[in-house]
Amino acid sequence: MSLCFSCNVSSLNSPKYQSHKAHFYSQFINQIQVNSLSHSLPSFPLNSSLPFKFSVKRINPIRSSTATSVEATQSSFRNKNPKDINILVAGSTGYIGKFVVKELVNRGFNVIAVAREKSGIRGKNSEEETLNQLQGANVCFSDVTKLETLEKSLNDFGVSVDVVVSCLASRTGGVKDSWKIDYEATKNSLVAGKKLGAKHFVLLSAICVQKPLLEFQRAKLKFESELMRETEMDSGFTYSIVRPTAFFKSLGGQVELVKDGKPYVMFGDGNLCACKPISEEDLASFIADCVLGEDKINQILPIGGPGKALTPLEQGEMLFRLLGKEPNFLKVPIGIMDFAIGVLDFLVKIFPSMEDAAEFGKIGRYYAAESMLVLDPETGEYSAERTPSYGEDTLEVFFEKVLREGMAGQELGEQAIF
Ligand SMILES: NC(=O)c1ccc[n+]([C@@H]2O[C@H](COP(=O)([O-])OP(=O)(O)OC[C@H]3O[C@@H](n4cnc5c(N)ncnc54)[C@H](OP(=O)(O)O)[C@@H]3O)[C@@H](O)[C@H]2O)c1
Repeated sequence: MSLCFSCNVSSLNSPKYQSHKAHFYSQFINQIQVNSLSHSLPSFPLNSSLPFKFSVKRINPIRSSTATSVEATQSSFRNKNPKDINILVAGSTGYIGKFVVKELVNRGFNVIAVAREKSGIRGKNSEEETLNQLQGANVCFSDVTKLETLEKSLNDFGVSVDVVVSCLASRTGGVKDSWKIDYEATKNSLVAGKKLGAKHFVLLSAICVQKPLLEFQRAKLKFESELMRETEMDSGFTYSIVRPTAFFKSLGGQVELVKDGKPYVMFGDGNLCACKPISEEDLASFIADCVLGEDKINQILPIGGPGKALTPLEQGEMLFRLLGKEPNFLKVPIGIMDFAIGVLDFLVKIFPSMEDAAEFGKIGRYYAAESMLVLDPETGEYSAERTPSYGEDTLEVFFEKVLREGMAGQELGEQAIF
């Protein structure tokens, strides 16, 4: 998530500038959300006028949501066979969500994947493509941003729910969209899931919320705290909050540029921050572990991938080693970010519509200097040792794959707003 330095400063005047510029910001930003709106769970404006649809790709013995079955679900889902456990996945079409659905299906759970009629980056996937992508799951086409619509879709689907897994995140990274998705829509999935009997909620969050300096982190934290409050009010309800470090997609943006002979760009001396990157498959597996894992009940779970923590300098060195080239780094002073933020903060006072741009600058600065590792409460320092590792996929193998096959499937989304 941090360390997303796909920007190649030397290429700013090249014909590829526009796409590089987009990468620069989106890789810094990666998930951009924000703004302090006032929110309260049940008071969303409801709109049931939108159409909804569902399509069952795999016919599973999903029970209808009778009081009896919901009651049975509440008391005992952890003792049931995976094939009898119904898992609602929100954000099922995202970078991580797709792999979570696949993993849960492979483990034999009944998966109800909520999706938009046009899903994916810029809504590029049709319903048919979405169904293909989510094979093995029961796909419920609906709108997670409207509680009433979501509830109606799920009621018509005729299922009870044991567990909700949310991999929702804003696609645009805009201020309002971030609150709408990372907080409100996520909350809608909690409310709708609970009404259908859900007794456990697995949330895909982010490790950076432990040091909240940005609005999107506050939006995520607000949902996290309300989720935890649910367990205080309902002793039969549990949660697992997964806070991963950096995703591979956020670290691969410079691979093809460096392959083409460009320098590897990093801020400061390349040692300002570090992370333990985790692959989509490994993270999906960890999230699936949270469904039944007793040790993951009511836990906040920071998680990284295998191996040691890597700084941007080490990532760059790894890349040059794989390419058999002499290292060629472009070190950019972090002060450049501070200058840009100052300018944007000034402009936003005159042009309030630039609030997203100003926030993106701050997010870029955050990821240029803050590690995606657990903050040691005793020292106040980031600690690689305290950041748990999971899985087998390494960044080195990912870089090799990108060098061979390119970044297909690792698109960053719509955050490249500038
Ligand atoms: N990138 C990193 O390095 C990193 C590191 C740690 C944590 N994280 C966190 O991981 C989480 C998930 O990331 P990701 O990359 O998997 O996200 P993503 O690929 O952007 O997926 C977002 C999901 O949310 C859905 N969504 C977005 N806007 C929606 C809307 N208006 N209505 C309905 N659904 C909507 C998308 O559906 P559509 O397909 O229909 O758009 C998609 O399923 C984020 O919370 C992020 O902060 C990221």
